[in-house]
Amino acid sequence: MKVHPTRKFDNTAKNYQHIQALPLAAAMGAEIRGIDISTITDAQFLEVEDALYRHKMIYFRDQDFSHADQESFSLRFGEFADDAYTTGVDGHRDVHPVIMEADTRAEMVFGNGWHVDSPFMKQPPSVSMLYGVEVPPYGGDTIWANSVLAYNCLSDTMKAIIEPLKIHFSAKSVVNQLKKEADDKRKKDVDGGRTKGFGDMELDMRTQAMIDGSMHPLVRTHPKSGERALYVDETYTHGIEGLTAAESAGLLNFLKEHVSQPAFTCRLKWEPGTFVLWDNRGCCHHAFNDYDGYRRALYRTTVKGEVPA
Ligand code: SIN
Repeated sequence: MKVHPTRKFDNTAKNYQHIQALPLAAAMGAEIRGIDISTITDAQFLEVEDALYRHKMIYFRDQDFSHADQESFSLRFGEFADDAYTTGVDGHRDVHPVIMEADTRAEMVFGNGWHVDSPFMKQPPSVSMLYGVEVPPYGGDTIWANSVLAYNCLSDTMKAIIEPLKIHFSAKSVVNQLKKEADDKRKKDVDGGRTKGFGDMELDMRTQAMIDGSMHPLVRTHPKSGERALYVDETYTHGIEGLTAAESAGLLNFLKEHVSQPAFTCRLKWEPGTFVLWDNRGCCHHAFNDYDGYRRALYRTTVKGEVPA
């Protein structure tokens, strides 16, 4: 399934008063200039928020701020989300390290595979942020796909078919893979305890709740912009309510491939000091395990979202 650019693509920048937005790709993404995150004003923040909902993913280069600054900035969007995977750094429990050491060899890095953040939760994170402190000279990029654009590129008939459907999101594949890695390396069992996973990350997971997961609408409406988006991903989607596994498989395979196809994406090369925000209500994303031999250290905060509707 491949869609070529059509008039449905509009990632042009608005003329803002306090920031500059430079679109990254035809489908989505923009660099925001003219902002120091540690001293951002209310007027700048309102435009940053507007740009985030418009471009789905925005990034800032050359930022230099503390964990406390990242916490303050995140809180402008709302309270912190509960993190399903980790506990945060000392003294800043809502700032989560996403770190891979240069000498670590892991099958699976955090964020591998197309996903939205923790859709197995009843109230999944709305906005996620990652601050890159140490990044490889090449590799370790992140890629995003615009799920509003993916929805807009479906036929009216397909939109009508999927409109009433609900998806079962579960972390069972991720948990099983982590357990397999833990067994392979003779580490502690990951169930309910703290152990390493995704390479070097200190995990603190409630695995049964993650496996049980949640049912959410396959088409969700953004609470601020009103845009409709496909809510489906490769990592956590495990069936459609009311359909047998065989019945849902064909439709889900089509939608998973459709939502993440190249025409809907943008790709970011990290630099030290790059700070990225994305809106999980309008995009999915994917990290790569392709930088063996280099340290990659980023810090993540997430904002508690609404129940998807
Ligand atoms: C994530 O999925 O939040 C991590 C993305 C990355 O490390 O590039």
